[in-house]
This record gives sequence, C-alpha cells and structure tokens, in this order.
Amino acid sequence: MSKIMDAAEGIARRVFGDEALRTKAPGPDASFLGLRATAGYAKSPLQWMRYLRDTYGDVAETQVLGRPWFLVSHPDDIEWVLVKNAKKMKRDAYIDILERTLGKGLLTADGELWKRQRKLMSQAFTPKRIATYADAMTAVSDRGCHWHDGMTVDLHAEMSRVTMEVVSAVLFGTGIGAEEVRTVSEAMEVINGFYANSPEAIFKVPEWVPTPTNRSMNAAVKRIDGVLFDIIGKRRRSKEKHDDLLGTLLAAVDDDGSAMTDQQLRDEAITLFLAGHETTALTLGYTLMLVAKYPDVERRLMEELDTVLGGRLPTAEDSKNLPYTRQVLEEAMRLYPPAWTTGREVAEEIEVRGFTLPVGAQVLTSQWIVHRDPRFFPDPEAFDPDRFEKSKAKDRPKYAYFPFGGGPRVCIGNHFAMMEAILILAIAMQRYHFELLPDQELKLAPSVTLRPKKGVRAVVKHRRRKPAVVSAA
Ligand code: HEM
Repeated sequence: MSKIMDAAEGIARRVFGDEALRTKAPGPDASFLGLRATAGYAKSPLQWMRYLRDTYGDVAETQVLGRPWFLVSHPDDIEWVLVKNAKKMKRDAYIDILERTLGKGLLTADGELWKRQRKLMSQAFTPKRIATYADAMTAVSDRGCHWHDGMTVDLHAEMSRVTMEVVSAVLFGTGIGAEEVRTVSEAMEVINGFYANSPEAIFKVPEWVPTPTNRSMNAAVKRIDGVLFDIIGKRRRSKEKHDDLLGTLLAAVDDDGSAMTDQQLRDEAITLFLAGHETTALTLGYTLMLVAKYPDVERRLMEELDTVLGGRLPTAEDSKNLPYTRQVLEEAMRLYPPAWTTGREVAEEIEVRGFTLPVGAQVLTSQWIVHRDPRFFPDPEAFDPDRFEKSKAKDRPKYAYFPFGGGPRVCIGNHFAMMEAILILAIAMQRYHFELLPDQELKLAPSVTLRPKKGVRAVVKHRRRKPAVVSAA
C-alpha cells in the first residue's frame, strides 16, 4: 500500500511540482519575493521574529528575497531540526560572509571537510585538555582585571580585551608576544565592526571592490595572517613540544595519519579567535551588568566566592564547585544570548509539525525568542539565576535553553567558554563592585552576535576585603 502511495505522490509531484503539494506553514503575505518580510527582518530582526512567533505560532513561514524561510520556535521542534534530523540539514548561506575572514575553518566548513576538521579539533577540546588551559586563563585574567577605584569603563570593551588576551594565551602560550596580541586585537576589532554593521557585509560586496571598509578589512585580515603564519612557521621549525592549543592542533592526526596544513591551521586559529573571544566577552559583559542591577544576586554570588575561594585565584577544579556563579552566567546567557540565532539550510526535505520544509529553505531557530518564552521561563524578563538550579532545569524541555546551539555542530568551545567565564567572573567580582551609570538605555545590535549598541558603562569600586587573620605561630 505504501509503495502505491509513494508512486502516486511521485506522479503528483511531477505533474504539479513539489511546491504545489507541500503543506505550507502559516505566515505573513510572501508576495513580491517576500520583500516585506525582508524589510521587516532588516529593520529589526528581534522584533520581527517575535512578531512572527506571536502571530503565526511555533512554525512560521515566509520568504526572504524569494527563498522559503522558516522560524521554528518550539524546543521539541528545535531538537527535531538540529539534532534528530541533523543529517538532512547543512550549514546555511548566511555563514558564507565569514569565509572571507575564516577561510574554511570549522565554523564555515561543511560536508566531508567539516567532519574531518571537527574530529581533529575535538582533540583540543576534551575535558582533560580544557582543564590544562585553566592556569593560562587565570594568569591572564589576574593581570587583565585591574581597574582604578572610581574609574568609568565600558564593561563590554573591558571584557573583550580580557577574553582576547585569554584566547591568545591559550592558543599560543608563550609563542605570542604583547605586540602581536595588540596587532591581532586591533585587527579583530576592525573585523568585528565589519560584521556588526557594514553595508559591505550585509550586501556581500566582493572583497576586491575598493570601498574604504573593504580596504581596511582586507588590511586587517592580512595583518592577522602575518602574525599567524609566522607563529605556525616557527612552531613547525622548532623541535620543542608545546602544551597549548596550537601544539595540540599541530600534533592532531586523522585516522590515515595526515595532519593539518599551514593554511588549515591558520583558518582554525582565526576561527577560534573570532568564535571564542567575542561571545565569551558578551556573556561576561551582560553578566556584570545584570549583577550590578540585582543586589540580591550579587550578595549570593559574593557569599559563594568568599566561601569557596576566600579571595584567592580560582583553579579548574574550583570552576566545578561554584554552582551559583555558573547559574548567574547561564541566566545572563538566557536573557542576552551572544548567539541569538542558529540557522540551517534544508538539504533533504523534512516535516516539522506536519508542515513541509523544502530543499533549499532557510530554517532559523532563535535563542532570543525561545529563551524568553513564558511557557518555559515564567516571568521571562526577570533575572533569576535560581531557574538554573538542577532540580528546576530538569523540568524544562532540553532545547528551551540552547545558547551553544545543538546537534553535531554544537559549539565545540562550550565547556572551554563556561570554565573561562567562571574564572574571569570570580576574579573580577572578588576585586570590584560595578555601579552602572544612570540613564543608560541598553540598545541591542543583533548582527553575527548580540552586541550592546553603545556599550554598557559602569563605575568601578574596589572591594575592601577584611584582612586575613594570621594565626600566631
Ligand atoms: C559564551 C560563549 C560562546 C557561545 C554563546 C557560543 C555559541 C556558539 C553557537 C551557537 C555555535 C553554533 C552551533 C550550531 O550551529 O549548532 C557555535 C559554534 C562554534 N563555536 Fe562557539 N560559542 C561560545 C564560545 C566559544 C569558544 C570559547 C570557542 C573556542 C575557543 C568557540 C568555538 C566555536 C566553533 C569553532 C564553532 C563551530 C562548530 C562547528 O560548526 O562544528 N565558541 N558557538
């Protein structure tokens, strides 16, 4: 019987075309190649997605520049798309624009190349390897988290500086000097700015078109390449074994014994810089902002840090014994997810809640939407780290919270990022209290990541620690 049904469907598809037969999901008028949707999305993607979900439900369909485009907003369907049907999905075309900087690194690669690279790169992100990065993270953050009493800072910019230094130290150990870190940081700022708001990025203007932005972007990538190829070359020539992330990547071999080429190592190194520093910095910046706004949370956080660390620097082991600190970070990423959407392109037709998603369609899942859904997070605007207590978290569907994406392409750096964020937050909070400048309105700039448009400004106050009691010998 099912063979007859399949044959009938095959004939119908040939006669009427796939499009006429598929069950469409509800959504706004998609005439004129979906220009209205395209304009709505371009004007304010966060508001536009919320409108789609609120008006059309958990699977909303529209067109963007003539392409079918779906917003999937129920955690079970997100799991269905990202995890259970991962094989029917591929990397989406929005990522193409990153290739200009990242080449074919893990974030931009697809198919067989991605599979090989994911396997090789995983060797640098095992729990054992990650624990070995903690000392470098702590040493750098210890030096980086220093501000004068009464100084006004932009929390996001400061956290960006610290996480940039951390990722440089973890990647290259002592193989990178202060001057080179500065070169990479400055160039990375140009690159972040390019992706955040340049028309060249939005309209994919080819890199050879000599606009001023294109020229400064090309020069920034060239400067980083100079630093990276120099470090890679020196490492290849030296006989010394290095314990840092680059050392692990240089030593990583595939089943057939082949290792990465210099170009692939360069692509992966710059990918780790870009994917690894801005996201963690945003998490920390938003966390410091929220903690400053919620004195009860700050009090409980300080109690935990005092009890577990008592003013000393944290270690990898400590990062597992600071549950409230972790919850505070998790709750900040719920409200302000640095990666606010995770997209895929349909490679093989699938059904979601009875609606057909055709080949070539764009599927978006949005952390911004789902993390603020009152069905899974009552009183969603409130900052309440207790939501992430183990006993409460287990009552939610798994994909109600997915700051690191999901399925085979889940963020490879998620445990790295959590450990790093816990260590930096513990160091900064033990030393300082941050007081937000009054009358600041937080405006969000959703581009590749969810940035605060004008930063978050705060006055730094030194904490006065009680002197330690020295026992008489
Ligand atoms: C709080 C910090 C971070 C957040 C919120 C975050 C989020 C994400 C998300 C949502 C994805 C896409 C997952 C998907 O498509 O399903 C991703 C991918 C990735 N992330 Fe992260 N990330 C963070 C930190 C890091 C760090 C520290 C590193 C490296 C040191 C890193 C490296 C990567 C890489 C290489 C990928 C591509 C993985 C692949 O396609 O196989 N991320 N990240």
